[in-house]
Amino acid sequence: MEGYSPGEQPQDGQYIKLNTNENPYPPSPKVAEAINKEANTSIRLYPSPMADSLRRKAAKVHGVREENILAGNGADDLLSILVRSFVGKGDLVVIPTPTYTLYDTLVAIQEGKKLNIPFTENFDIPEGFAKRDAKLTFLANPNSPSGTFTPIKKIAGFAKELNGVLVVDEAYVDFASESAIPLINEYPNIVVLRTFSKSFSLAGMRIGLAFANRNLIHGMIKVKDSYNLNRLSIAAAAAALDDMPWMENNVAKIKKTRQRLSTSLTGLGFKVYPSQSNFVLAKIPGRNLKGIYEELKRRDVLVRYFDTPELNDCIRITVGTDDEISRLLKELSDILEKK
Ligand SMILES: Cc1ncc(COP(=O)(O)O)c(C=O)c1O
Repeated sequence: MEGYSPGEQPQDGQYIKLNTNENPYPPSPKVAEAINKEANTSIRLYPSPMADSLRRKAAKVHGVREENILAGNGADDLLSILVRSFVGKGDLVVIPTPTYTLYDTLVAIQEGKKLNIPFTENFDIPEGFAKRDAKLTFLANPNSPSGTFTPIKKIAGFAKELNGVLVVDEAYVDFASESAIPLINEYPNIVVLRTFSKSFSLAGMRIGLAFANRNLIHGMIKVKDSYNLNRLSIAAAAAALDDMPWMENNVAKIKKTRQRLSTSLTGLGFKVYPSQSNFVLAKIPGRNLKGIYEELKRRDVLVRYFDTPELNDCIRITVGTDDEISRLLKELSDILEKK
């Protein structure tokens, strides 16, 4: 099988890094304080197996019970736990495409049978998406790489139709208008995933949360590593939840820059999909954009290019600071003029 290949992660600070949807702004100062305190007091001891202090805070913030929450070493850990919990050899898993390709890899590891159902041209969910015999159905909402959003009402409809588990991956939902978390009270087969990597500026700490009916959480606990979050991450995430205005302020700035980026890209001749995320997908229909990606990289601006037939006429651009986006736009218009 082929493994998952994450976006490039150069470690030398050479690039304006707009390729893996990190937050350009730092996390709340409360996070560093909490990490320092934890490092100086209890690091010799194992962490709480269920990340209790984090679960307690998250339950308050989201208006659910602690028993409805499982913490993970990033949303990726929770995705892996989900697939290992619910997918055996030959089991059907439905994945709309194009989307986050880690889903495919995890299903392949379990020797599950994946069914990729293409989104419509505008990234709407196609008819026939809800397969009653699927053990798992994935939906990233907002979706990556498109940034587009499926209304929660529609998601509730899928949950009702499905026999198996519906995973709503809300990695980017703080940049959108609505969350599916309230649906977990109504539908026993919905799991909603969140990450601290995007809106909370903590990609380096590796923290995610799953929200679901207590029976699903109970099953997933059996599959997870005993201590899947370290003490520093638990402290960091709990502190981040103590400072929601900090995150919300960063999200507001990013949404404003997203609007400017989308408008400017349209002015440069790109088709830009309506984004409710911290990135935009920009397309020149029928033109392979690998050359543009490479030329931007030569100019120290890193964006994401997917070398697949469905996406090779697109680039995905993370919304950076205003200065970073001004630089990207300047280089991009220069490159397009020369071609
Ligand atoms: C749709 C989606 N889900 C999950 C993740 C992973 O999140 P984490 O950093 O918490 O593992 C990403 C990361 O880019 C993503 O795009």
